[in-house]
Amino acid sequence: MSRLYLAEKVTEMHIPEEIIMKLQAAQHVVVFTGAGVSAESGIPTFRDDLTGLWENFSAEDLATPRAFKQDPALVWGWYEWRRMKILQAQPNLAHLAIASLANLVPKLTLITQNVDDLHERAGSRDVLHLHGRINKPFCFTCRRPHEYPLGIPDEPESGRRLDPPRCKRCGGKIRPGVVWFGESLPDTEWDTANDAAFRCDVFFCIGTSSIVQPAARLAYLAFQRGAIVIQINPNPTSLDNRASLNLHGPAGEVLPWLISKIPAWGES
Ligand code: OAD
Repeated sequence: MSRLYLAEKVTEMHIPEEIIMKLQAAQHVVVFTGAGVSAESGIPTFRDDLTGLWENFSAEDLATPRAFKQDPALVWGWYEWRRMKILQAQPNLAHLAIASLANLVPKLTLITQNVDDLHERAGSRDVLHLHGRINKPFCFTCRRPHEYPLGIPDEPESGRRLDPPRCKRCGGKIRPGVVWFGESLPDTEWDTANDAAFRCDVFFCIGTSSIVQPAARLAYLAFQRGAIVIQINPNPTSLDNRASLNLHGPAGEVLPWLISKIPAWGES
């Protein structure tokens, strides 16, 4: 996907007074994040030019149940490579700002499409992982959760094949704990996310291309229910036309700056 980089200098960004007032008065804030929120931690996004995972690897070969059945070692090796990259990464200023925002507003619901645990490691609690968690694998056959052995395994290189471990109960192959294309989102997380989007008064959409459904619907639901929608992304997305405010810059710079501009939040 070809994209024009439109980042502005954070210090030159403008927040209309009306939005500042609404942020100050917010009772329920939803923060909805995508791969871009972890980009400054060194975790590749999916669709950015050159560096995006789906620019360099085939989703059909790696991110469907059929792909796992056809070549489990290819799929398991690729997700273990990603899991190691995540283990080596640290939360960035955006993850930390989101965790601190939870202490500044009456209610905050954090919904992520990310399979990493960087929100949790930054201090966020009760994160709704719509697309699963890479460190929670389970049996492809009987769905029993699989525990990794203690310690950090040898780092798999990109493209190295690894046979998946076997389920202790049924002997089935262990699969990554992520939601693949064609699979349903986890019911509880999806229902809670919908409810939060329906009820919130502020909806932040941070670091997502807003392409993948059904997750991308949440911002539109919040918008239809009268919430203000604030998007933080260096690049334009299809949400630009609907968002109440578009801040075109990296989340790790823009979000701490935005929080500092809201008197009731910045003073705390
Ligand atoms: P994408 O790769 O589609 O989009 C990432 C977005 O982050 C892009 O719009 C970038 O412009 C933006 N971005 C890059 N750097 C940023 C930064 N420093 N700060 C803020 N934004 C930045 O990733 P997602 O929208 O998360 O599914 O993709 C959705 C789903 O598609 C993923 O959850 C994944 C993938 O297939 C599963 O893993 C199941």
